[in-house]
Amino acid sequence: MTVLIAGCGDLGTEVGLRLAARGERVVGWRRSAGRLPAAIEGVAADLTGDLPPVPADTDVVVIATAAGDRTEAAYRSAYVDATRNVLAALRRDGVTPRRIIFVSSTAVYGDFDGALVTEESPAESTAPTARLVREAEQVLLGGSANGTVLRLSGIYGPGRTRLIDQVRSGSAVLPPEPQWTNRIHRDDAAAAIVHLVTRVASPAPIYLGSDELPVDLSEVLRFLAAELDLPEPPAGEPTSGRGGARRVDSSLLRATGFTFEYPTYREGYRAVLAGQGVRHP
Ligand SMILES: NC(=O)c1ccc[n+]([C@@H]2O[C@H](COP(=O)([O-])OP(=O)(O)OC[C@H]3O[C@@H](n4cnc5c(N)ncnc54)[C@H](OP(=O)(O)O)[C@@H]3O)[C@@H](O)[C@H]2O)c1
Repeated sequence: MTVLIAGCGDLGTEVGLRLAARGERVVGWRRSAGRLPAAIEGVAADLTGDLPPVPADTDVVVIATAAGDRTEAAYRSAYVDATRNVLAALRRDGVTPRRIIFVSSTAVYGDFDGALVTEESPAESTAPTARLVREAEQVLLGGSANGTVLRLSGIYGPGRTRLIDQVRSGSAVLPPEPQWTNRIHRDDAAAAIVHLVTRVASPAPIYLGSDELPVDLSEVLRFLAAELDLPEPPAGEPTSGRGGARRVDSSLLRATGFTFEYPTYREGYRAVLAGQGVRHP
């Protein structure tokens, strides 16, 4: 059986490597297929153009593209057009996978004023890019009975060290008001996808993928400064917006038996820092 990863970047590659290690054949579609590791059969494909043949024994499809920039055109192309096109290629080639996972984002939710957000909460962000991600979700869920959407919060991990870099460079500031943040380590995000396609017989249409501890941004920045043996960042107005002011509740995913390797930012960032040679003080 074959797993097809459409948009096989950082997350898709980690998913592919884990499934290949379990003995699955993994095919990865992306434009620069030469960047894929040997365990994944790379096929050069632009998801918005003519797609290559879908392997006839494709059991699982994971759609994990990302937009190249923050324009609406890039989002429409990477999410809506790509998802529609992958479904069309499956129909064209008469392949009906057991499961199609679309990697989405908790950005589809608007501002919840610090309230808990679940799969049942209205996904009604008015941000144009978030609406396009939501539209792609609907393309999948409306176009396939076997579709599952996994809405991830902010991904961090090896090479995804924005907050660590801010603390190190001295550009981090502690916002004056509490600012809820939600995150998931890249490896937990990959493990959640593998779990959903290998361990859950009848998944729900939508899951939230976020660690067990929504947390105020200042707490994370203070923690990172302490781990790096640096002074606490100064108070100040953050340059980026305050995000969605929501706390993401991933208990539905955990109820399927999924356990986080990095249940909070502390374990996750300690692992990332250890990978950079920083020892826990
Ligand atoms: N970053 C976050 O914090 C965050 C939060 C929530 C959800 N997510 C979601 O997580 C998913 C995966 O993210 P990631 O970090 O793995 O992103 P990534 O490393 O940028 O991977 C995305 C891949 O999609 C491929 N791609 C983009 N447009 C394509 C096209 N037209 N045709 C073929 N391939 C295309 C790119 O490869 P080529 O350039 O070689 O084509 C790239 O390797 C995305 O769906 C993203 O929305 C991310």
